[in-house]
Amino acid sequence: MKRCADWTRAKTLLCPSILSADLSDLSNSIAALDDNYDMLHCDVMDGSFVPLITFGSQLVRQLNEKTKKALDVHLMVINPESQIKNFADAGASSLVFHRETSFHPQRVLSEIRSLGCYAGVSLSPATPLEEVKYLLPDMDMLLLMTVNPGFGGQLYLKQMTEKIRSARAMIDESGYSVRLQVDGGISRDNLGQVIRAGADMVVSGSAIFLAENPGLEAKAFQLDMLELDRELKRV
Ligand code: DX5
Ligand code: ZN
Repeated sequence: MKRCADWTRAKTLLCPSILSADLSDLSNSIAALDDNYDMLHCDVMDGSFVPLITFGSQLVRQLNEKTKKALDVHLMVINPESQIKNFADAGASSLVFHRETSFHPQRVLSEIRSLGCYAGVSLSPATPLEEVKYLLPDMDMLLLMTVNPGFGGQLYLKQMTEKIRSARAMIDESGYSVRLQVDGGISRDNLGQVIRAGADMVVSGSAIFLAENPGLEAKAFQLDMLELDRELKRV
């Protein structure tokens, strides 16, 4: 498993989501990014928690062999505990499951950490932050969905900006080192809004992979992020 080199720095991380890439030509889609990103975000969907089925640990394993970058795996599946080991063995660097899919999330987080991965919980838009408050000691990241999970290309839910701000305050108050990731409807138009609200990991699918030149778009994201990190004195 590869680690993201900048995980422990305050720098904001860019995670392009391959959901919007051409999955039948993944090597070329990723090569087009020209290394202008930090981690590759892999959306695993099971057709139950969310309507679509995407891919499983086999593809993550093959991807891990092909790319130098660390893989950020977002599990949108019922019964995530049964899948944790498969994805850890496949080379996931971070493993994130949905709070809504797990009865015993603290146990799942511990298991993910024991397998050597960064452990994360994701919250759908309607799920309150209170649901993860007592899990923070066992978490390396919190993923806030800024659209309803299931599809790329949806519109950012603007009421999520307040949730990002509250999550940032909750994490800072806890004193634990937990990254705050946002996922859904993020483009360079609202990047400043989510980063200033406190996000330090940004997922973007359609805005990058459906751009005319995905490599240049990812580079533009990174430059904007660097400027915002400077403004917020993160670098
Ligand atoms: C949606 C996925 C996202 C998706 C984001 O359920 O979790 O990662 O790829 O796509 P955009 O950036 O197009 O909203
Ligand atoms: Zn995702």
